[in-house]
Amino acid sequence: MQEKLYELSKIVLNCKKCRLHLKRKNVVFGEGNPFTKVMFIGEGPGEEEDKTGRPFVGKAGQLLTKMIEAIGLKREEVYIANIVKCRPPNNRVPFDDEAYACLPYLRKQVALIRPKIIVCLGATASKYIIDKDIKITKDRGIWIKKGDFLIMPTYHPSALLRDPLKKKDAWEDFKKIRDELKKLYE
Ligand code: URA
Ligand code: SF4
Repeated sequence: MQEKLYELSKIVLNCKKCRLHLKRKNVVFGEGNPFTKVMFIGEGPGEEEDKTGRPFVGKAGQLLTKMIEAIGLKREEVYIANIVKCRPPNNRVPFDDEAYACLPYLRKQVALIRPKIIVCLGATASKYIIDKDIKITKDRGIWIKKGDFLIMPTYHPSALLRDPLKKKDAWEDFKKIRDELKKLYE
């Protein structure tokens, strides 16, 4: 299974299926424990991620790492990936055609890792994984069951950096994730 993820990463690292390949420095495939019960999905690489080829390593990533640790996990214990794997210029939101070009890779990652819980970080992840009309401010914090997965839409850590008042709600969501994981380990 790890081998299949590695095979997939080799394909994705050479992908030119959408225009985002033109300006990327590195493809950001995703990283973490392929045997995890929980995957965190963001929008797409920012500047730091593009430079390093790793997801969530900039300011938002440092906050995400802290939030993961706050629910008793280590970053290396979970898996972290994005909707699009190449940085959109100036960190704009990915276009629909870019997201749809890239989504099959994320679906394969999910199919190989088979997490129990998928955390959608922000509007873009929620839109493509849950429902195109989802409104994150209204619909966050509620478990959504889809097939074998429990999906939690919550704020993107960048939104928490822009508006710290949202942190309280995000913490409520993360406590739900912690409690559900606890049940899964019992
Ligand atoms: N924001 C995202 O959505 N993903 C990253 O990997 C980094 C910042
Ligand atoms: Fe390929 Fe995804 Fe990068 Fe587009 S964003 S070039 S689909 S890996």
